[in-house]
Amino acid sequence: MLYLIVCTILLAVMCQSVSSASVDYTSQVSAQGDRLPDFSFCGYHSSNDALPSIFSVVTTTLSPGSGDQAPRIQKALNNIASAGGGVLLLTAGNYTVDTSLIIPSGVVLRGAGTTKTILLPQSGASTFITMGMAAAPPIITPATNITDTYVGVGAKTFRVVSSSKLSVGQTVMVQRAVTDAWVRQNGMADLVRSGVAQTWLAVGTLVQQPRKIMNISGSQITIDVPLTDSLNSKYMHSQVATYTFPSGSSEMGVEDLGITLLPSCTGAAISDDTCNGNAINISAYTTDSWVRSVNITGFNQFINSSPGAMRITIDSVSMYRDKATNSSSGYPADITIQGTQMLVTGCGTFATSEATTFPIVVQNLTAGPNAVLDYYSQQSSFVISPHQRWAHGLLVEGSRSSISFGNRGTYGTGQGWTLNAGVAWNSNGSDIDIYSPPLGTNWCFGCRWIRSAGNGTFVDPSSTVQPQSLFQAQLAARGSN
Ligand SMILES: *[C@@H]1O[C@H](CO)[C@@H](O)[C@H](O)[C@H]1NC(C)=O
Ligand SMILES: *[C@@H]1O[C@H](CO)[C@@H](O)[C@H](O)[C@H]1NC(C)=O
Ligand SMILES: *[C@@H]1O[C@H](CO)[C@@H](O)[C@H](O)[C@H]1NC(C)=O
Ligand SMILES: *[C@@H]1O[C@H](CO)[C@@H](O)[C@H](O)[C@H]1NC(C)=O
Ligand SMILES: *[C@@H]1O[C@H](CO)[C@@H](O)[C@H](O)[C@H]1NC(C)=O
Ligand SMILES: *[C@@H]1O[C@H](CO)[C@@H](O)[C@H](O)[C@H]1NC(C)=O
Ligand SMILES: *[C@@H]1O[C@H](CO)[C@@H](O)[C@H](O)[C@H]1NC(C)=O
Ligand SMILES: *[C@@H]1O[C@H](CO)[C@@H](O)[C@H](O)[C@H]1NC(C)=O
Ligand SMILES: *[C@@H]1O[C@H](CO)[C@@H](O)[C@H](O)[C@H]1NC(C)=O
Repeated sequence: MLYLIVCTILLAVMCQSVSSASVDYTSQVSAQGDRLPDFSFCGYHSSNDALPSIFSVVTTTLSPGSGDQAPRIQKALNNIASAGGGVLLLTAGNYTVDTSLIIPSGVVLRGAGTTKTILLPQSGASTFITMGMAAAPPIITPATNITDTYVGVGAKTFRVVSSSKLSVGQTVMVQRAVTDAWVRQNGMADLVRSGVAQTWLAVGTLVQQPRKIMNISGSQITIDVPLTDSLNSKYMHSQVATYTFPSGSSEMGVEDLGITLLPSCTGAAISDDTCNGNAINISAYTTDSWVRSVNITGFNQFINSSPGAMRITIDSVSMYRDKATNSSSGYPADITIQGTQMLVTGCGTFATSEATTFPIVVQNLTAGPNAVLDYYSQQSSFVISPHQRWAHGLLVEGSRSSISFGNRGTYGTGQGWTLNAGVAWNSNGSDIDIYSPPLGTNWCFGCRWIRSAGNGTFVDPSSTVQPQSLFQAQLAARGSN
């Protein structure tokens, strides 16, 4: 018996090694000098720690009552927060919730299971659950200029004119202001839609990478998370600016419950303001929080993370589109990533073939790294499609979904090149398009497809690559140094 099991395992390992090519991801480098971003910093506590146990001690328990449960639930959440944080357990049953809920810092909203505890919001007009109080944006003060002529994606060190205003542990923006030359070189200077000129990114807009200083050695600075966008002095001057990360909300969770909106807003046109609230919104500057094991039905857009949100894990969220899409004003998005170091893992969109969606979008200048692992799209028409204006550092790994990294031209109001330093890894979809912008590189390793296109860098398109997971390999490598 044991002999049989060992043989089966050996056979499985051998078969895998025959059909998969090994890739040294650390040595991949583009002509300009860009490497792969380090995606392992995505997620709750930069993935240094596992999510808190789903069985952690409960502080307060509520059972279903009749009528609107929003006041009861919100009061319990607030009381837990005042007492220093903890878990609110909603026991099995249906909870009618007439108004939106806010999860305060340090509080976890837990159900008894995705099919057991069901929240029933009464309107899809605005966000149902907001995680954290929105913090005001910080004041960002330029401190010094970067002197290297080119700092590639994946770099952790660079040189500055003077480090006198910097200190170890300081939060900084590595930033550069958009120039006309850079816009022009990317082919985005002359976008016209219906006779009207479109602006891709206005000159002066800052392309920012939020980081922390880990070391200062003379003029050489080392940052915590490797860059996800290159710094090219030929087109834009780069600088280091200091800021204080806004003290926002953290250690919040929403877990183990279902959310069902009736009547369903799925299928509403995205221009319809009465039906496009998200089920869950992660506030600006919220950190180290999670959404896990949640099934959501009836919304037209499911989860949004606001700019400034950081180190959030969205794990095992299943989203159900129970109606056909009305695409008269475009397609809806399931998960919108605008924060950074976001980890979306084991999530999926389920729907009939009349529904079409962008399961994952990132928005203008969304700063990497962000990682999407093992995304399941039920329909081949669902496309993971970073959406507009030079987001950078997005991994789509082990997904079963179509993927499109490229130039959206004049879609929207000139969405243009959507992404730099995008990596598709061991993904399988009916349509995988990976294009590189003139001043950047998008990659595709071990992707399978029925149709594919693009001038991105394709490595081993005909086989699965090893390591199976770039994210896990990078995480393991980070732990060992
Ligand atoms: C709870 O709500 C769901 C709708 O999501 C419904 O199907 C179910 O019948 C409700 N259960 C009870 C006991 O009302
Ligand atoms: C919730 O999602 C899981 C995983 O996709 C699925 O097994 C389960 O049936 C879903 N529950 C409901 C109520 O749809
Ligand atoms: C940084 O560079 C800008 C030009 O981009 C220049 O105006 C400014 O004086 C420089 N600052 C320092 C401290 O060198
Ligand atoms: C900073 O870098 C210098 C030079 O590489 C090294 O000697 C020092 O140990 C580093 N300090 C820290 C705190 O990592
Ligand atoms: C789609 O949405 C638009 C805008 O709300 C509406 O005018 C139109 O009737 C809808 N189409 C269908 C087929 O429901
Ligand atoms: C999410 O919350 C932020 C506040 O942090 C707010 O500005 C934004 O409009 C909200 N977005 C959605 C989609 O609810
Ligand atoms: C990104 O787009 C949003 C919405 O269109 C806009 O409010 C914001 O100012 C833009 N940000 C930048 C940096 O261009
Ligand atoms: C890729 O996905 C298709 C369905 O979209 C499936 O039929 C096929 O077996 C998958 N290929 C691999 C190698 O996983
Ligand atoms: C890839 O092709 C597009 C046209 O589809 C072009 O604009 C772009 O410059 C090409 N990228 C590179 C790196 O050559």
